[in-house]
Amino acid sequence: MVIVHISAECYPMAKAGGLADVVGALPKYQNKIGEKAMVVMPMYQTAFLQQNKWDVHFKGHTNLGDWFFDFTIIKESTGKLGYDLFLVDIHGLLDRPKIYGYPDDIDRFVGFQVAVVNWLTQWEVLPDIVHCHDHQAGLIPFMMKYCFDYQKLQLVKTVLTIHNAQYQGVMDWAKSILIPRWDISKKGLLEWNNTINSLATAVKCADKITTVSPAYSQQLKFQSNGLETLFDNEQGKCVGILNGIDNELWDPATDSMIANHYNASNVIVEKKKNKKALCVKYNLDPNKPLIVFIGRLVGEKAADVLPGAIQHALDKTNCGVNFFIVGAGETATESALNYLVQLYPGNYNTFIGYEERVGHEAYASADFLLMPSRVEPCGLNQLYALRYGTIPIVRDTGGLHDTVVDMGDPDGFGIKFLNANEQDIVYSVERAIAVYQDKIQMNKMIQYAMQIDHSWESVVIAYKKIYESIL
Ligand code: GLC
Repeated sequence: MVIVHISAECYPMAKAGGLADVVGALPKYQNKIGEKAMVVMPMYQTAFLQQNKWDVHFKGHTNLGDWFFDFTIIKESTGKLGYDLFLVDIHGLLDRPKIYGYPDDIDRFVGFQVAVVNWLTQWEVLPDIVHCHDHQAGLIPFMMKYCFDYQKLQLVKTVLTIHNAQYQGVMDWAKSILIPRWDISKKGLLEWNNTINSLATAVKCADKITTVSPAYSQQLKFQSNGLETLFDNEQGKCVGILNGIDNELWDPATDSMIANHYNASNVIVEKKKNKKALCVKYNLDPNKPLIVFIGRLVGEKAADVLPGAIQHALDKTNCGVNFFIVGAGETATESALNYLVQLYPGNYNTFIGYEERVGHEAYASADFLLMPSRVEPCGLNQLYALRYGTIPIVRDTGGLHDTVVDMGDPDGFGIKFLNANEQDIVYSVERAIAVYQDKIQMNKMIQYAMQIDHSWESVVIAYKKIYESIL
């Protein structure tokens, strides 16, 4: 089966969040079971672009409204990723250092999608599945079906995977001129609340929709940033498939980004060494339980609640615990988190920014990972944490609901709470401190966590079944 993944992010080319990890791993594991899966994404100016070799694969010409442009499709030349990676180069529009955050992001991603569909129509043998990820690829199923120039793609099956429905690619109707000549009788498919909504359009037009966890698929009917009735109507097309993690990249026994390697048999001793080094580097106390937060400092992750909750927890426990924050995001939250560094020297620190290496070091050193997310479609960090023997403390929502069992359960290996507020977090931190002191229980949970299997091998079979159901 030939599967073309279309995404705004893909690790290691460009990563802003979990979307990149998934799109960078899923095709690799699909190819291992004999599929022919590939990724198409924009060519941003990233380090990976500069440090690797690329072949020119295709040159095309098309237009975005009244702007006519040339585009080039380049391909990673060694095949080392385990799948073909194609980049769409649109000079002046996509070739910038950042993935998101420009005033013309709408035009950039519509331009990207137009170029991709234009290229696909010129394939001699069409792919079996066009697999779109999130709203940045959300207009593609519509374009394939209802744009006059792309009639050749009308029967090619499309799948949409929703990694995050909070972002929807909403644009004013004036932007409709950016979509190449389309069948006006299908206007209703673009329409949502007097705007064009790329995600809603994809939900209406794709042959199948997957969400990145079963719980999230249900949750969207009640909480999806305005699309609740749509998800309620389209529930029949929706399936939740829990993400996998790349066990080759995320393996504490071989991870090249950590100093002391370990597996379940020597985790206690070796992890302690990592923790000690991290604590020396960031002025923390290795003798206290270490809780880390790793992620974007945004409202969705409830990062705004962290400064208050951490301060409260440190005061209440007389600094009986340490915290380390890794991430970047909203300025107010960054400042509030940084401010605490002077208040609690030796017990609290931050690494504002994101470096893959610091993330890996933190998983390999910490005792607990805190994820108070307000919205968490799947969440990969808790899965990485489990693999590294780090106990997750999570809010009971979306994928966190599906992947963490509270330690109150006989086979529990985590701590779950209901509300993204200070009170619930502080209470959970106290539970963490208590279990940390109970070495037998703590070790049992670490052992249990490390053997849980979230590898992609079984997940790709679930995707295969989805494809087969529509072919
Ligand atoms: C988004 C979601 C996250 C999910 C990831 C990969 O980043 O917020 O929950 O794990 O996509 O699917």
